Amino acid sequence: MNGHTDILAIETSCDETAAAVIRDGREVLSNVIYTQIAMHTTYGGVVPELASRAHIEKINAVVRAALSDAKMALPDVDAVAVTNGPGLVGALLVGVAEAKAIAWAAQKPLIGVNHIEGHIAANYLAHPELVPPYLGLVVSGGHTHLAVVRDYASFEILGRTVDDAAGEAFDKVARAVGLGYPGGPKIDAAAKEGNAEAIAFPRAKVNGSEYDFSFSGLKSAVLNYLNHAEMTHEEVNRADLAASFQKAVVDVLVGHTMRAAKELGIGAVAVSGGVSANSALRAGFEEACGKAGVKLYLPPLIYCTDNAAMIGAAAYHEYLSGRRSGYDLNAVPGLKLGER
Ligand code: KG4
Ligand code: ZN
Repeated sequence: MNGHTDILAIETSCDETAAAVIRDGREVLSNVIYTQIAMHTTYGGVVPELASRAHIEKINAVVRAALSDAKMALPDVDAVAVTNGPGLVGALLVGVAEAKAIAWAAQKPLIGVNHIEGHIAANYLAHPELVPPYLGLVVSGGHTHLAVVRDYASFEILGRTVDDAAGEAFDKVARAVGLGYPGGPKIDAAAKEGNAEAIAFPRAKVNGSEYDFSFSGLKSAVLNYLNHAEMTHEEVNRADLAASFQKAVVDVLVGHTMRAAKELGIGAVAVSGGVSANSALRAGFEEACGKAGVKLYLPPLIYCTDNAAMIGAAAYHEYLSGRRSGYDLNAVPGLKLGER
């Protein structure tokens, strides 16, 4: 309401209760994240019921903090955006109900946002020069997608995982090795002390679809390695195992993406999602893109894992295109990339 478009965005799809105010799809006026990680750590993973309850407890305070950090009140914002899928249904519902109530009370437009599209939009927050078309790789706890981002809300999916998501593989392997939850950061840290060439883990290919991913075979190979070591009473070097597993994931993610960039003649790659925080993945992409002369975009760490700023960035383009959600907006746990 000041010549700018300021969107209040809400995200509660998994284990972060988050709200943000985003100006013109690019500028972060506030970004508040309450993470439930400490609570879920006790159980070795996200407990959906506990997540929903914690969202309910925190959501009002988080939204208030996002407005006050942005030095705004509700009447100042132009729209209310919320992740309505994919994610945990009970968790999503908390954000959706909150956003609907706020939008109705303040008489503001309501915009439901696809969480995966939010991850893709994370790079817009830090890179003003990034505009479609480009090649987008989303790697998170629930998703692994390689897509041509034709326009802000137009995606051509080249490949996806046929089993586990990349982050899921990190979490499962970390649990098996006894590194705890969330697995990604733990493996990342352990791998720094290890030798990535120590153990030869498979780089899985998916028959007939060169851009699809498969990580369950790699996970099984790690479990077999651990079982074998236990049976033969050999000691497992956890740092070597973490580094070798991580390298196998990174090789496949970077390999598929660079092949697509070359074959499709696309000169820009943007990586996002929780796993894009991984230091080996970032280094792997920097090296490969440097060699290939491809421009690389990575989000700052705070926009890699779940946040509402990226939801506000994605919502801006929906807002511009005139798309609005009704008060019947619902949580859609299985929402696919490109679906609304
Ligand atoms: O994007 P995100 O916060 O939530 C989903 O939408 O899924 O991603 C969380 C995932 C978890 O699987 C976590 O282990 C992984 O991202 N992750 C990492 C790192 N930091 C978070 N994986 C590898 N290395 C990291 N440094
Ligand atoms: Zn996410």
